[in-house]
Amino acid sequence: MAAIAAVVRYAVGEEEPKAVKTGARETGIDLQRFRLRRFVEELRQTGELEVRAGAADLADVAPALEGNARAVLFERVGKEGAPLVGNAMGSRARLAHAFGTAPDKLLAEVLRRLRVTPQVVEVPRETAPAQEIVLTGDRADLTALPVNLQHGMDGGPYISASIDFVLDPSNGWTNVGVRRLMLRGRHEAGVDLNSPSDLRALYEAAVREGRRLPVAFVVGAHPADYVAAVMRVPVDELGLVASLRDAPLAVVKCVSCDIRVPADAEWVLEGVLDERGHVEAEGPYGEFLGYYGGVKQNPVFHLTAVTRRRDALFQTATIGGRSLARTDTAQLNALRTEVMVWRALESAVRETKAVYATPASGGMYNLRIAMRQRVPGEARNAIAAAFGCPSLRGAKTGAKAGFDLTLPMGEAHGIESMIPEPPRFEGKRFASVEAALADGPKTFEALMAALASRDGREAVLALEALRDAGRLMREKDGRYALRPT
Ligand SMILES: Cc1cc2nc3c(=O)[nH]c(=O)nc-3n(C[C@H](O)[C@H](O)[C@H](O)COP(=O)(O)O)c2cc1C
Repeated sequence: MAAIAAVVRYAVGEEEPKAVKTGARETGIDLQRFRLRRFVEELRQTGELEVRAGAADLADVAPALEGNARAVLFERVGKEGAPLVGNAMGSRARLAHAFGTAPDKLLAEVLRRLRVTPQVVEVPRETAPAQEIVLTGDRADLTALPVNLQHGMDGGPYISASIDFVLDPSNGWTNVGVRRLMLRGRHEAGVDLNSPSDLRALYEAAVREGRRLPVAFVVGAHPADYVAAVMRVPVDELGLVASLRDAPLAVVKCVSCDIRVPADAEWVLEGVLDERGHVEAEGPYGEFLGYYGGVKQNPVFHLTAVTRRRDALFQTATIGGRSLARTDTAQLNALRTEVMVWRALESAVRETKAVYATPASGGMYNLRIAMRQRVPGEARNAIAAAFGCPSLRGAKTGAKAGFDLTLPMGEAHGIESMIPEPPRFEGKRFASVEAALADGPKTFEALMAALASRDGREAVLALEALRDAGRLMREKDGRYALRPT
């Protein structure tokens, strides 16, 4: 992985007041380019966006998103009339668009970007669009956000497109992930921290020391940021965001803690996870495998500040339901799985051709690998490598099945390994089918080409005549030939 980011620091307050924009300009970083709203506007151009103009209730959101092949923009939702987008990353095409490439090139592009040396630049608070509006104390209110009930049995409305940023005190790196938040009140939300993750480890270390853990959640970000957040690699993950954007990342220090978040975020929710540990009920929740997860004991997030852009666009991520392949979560998981497996295969086999994780299975539990097997047994190595990197999620044992569907070595050249295509009727002309066969064995397509036939039935009749005269034979591969006299 790329080295940690070189962070250039601009001390807050050092600039003169009118240097606010100068500060942003000095960095040369366009703070609009990677904002979510711009990406959503691009989807409008590509026909990938459904727009719900006019006022909508929060109760309208989930039914509009369920199974929807497109992203949906609600222009005014809830009593605040806030703009909200859902399903923004719910297709491979939209994710590929976010990375400036085609769906079948997306994995290669992400792998390339993972090697980009990151550049992270801290900008003054005054220049950060993410802090155009700052609400602290009692004015910071989770129930003033457009948060909808996503599934019928959910324990409450969930913020689901929330990217968490946390400082690791052991090395100063920032850990980045995605964690859902169940509203518990104006200043409290439940956080699901059951699965093994870096954040869980950081939180449990804080709990052991009786410390609260400061955390900032970005809601509303470019898809590349979400892809970075779901990757689990041992680096400063702010740098990972920069690498996956393939551009320098401007970050800004939060208003109530030292965490740095992308300065171009739409919304930021700052606060702490309290020191009590996994003590409060969180859930049920419509999970990413299409079923509910039950009530769990989980930590509580306490809100200290809300900062946002003046025209901030809130975001919700689709997760459970009957059409997993059309959810943000399955698409993100699938891409993450493909990256992890591709990298594992790099050391296990010689020539991986493609890796595909099916989003219809949630993106993590069904995988196809295409490879050119150079020596016997490589397919088995591929299976073992793939088994080694999708996580057991904490369990000691798990059940996995791998199928070697590669052709037996040396049998890759027969007709059974060829992919049928429409005939092209290219080839030499001859006066008759007999003359064509005298030249050598021919496919039926070649015989039609030989006669310049656009019909083919006259070739059937000519072959019948040769067969009746005992002069026709077939090659192993099906070509017609003249029987030697
Ligand atoms: C939309 C979405 C929501 C997610 N919600 C959670 C969650 O609530 N809890 C969790 O443990 N993981 C959740 N994940 C998975 C984590 O974000 C992912 O495993 C991440 O790599 C963890 O990062 P970390 O190990 O650096 O902390 C979610 C993923 C997505 C895409």
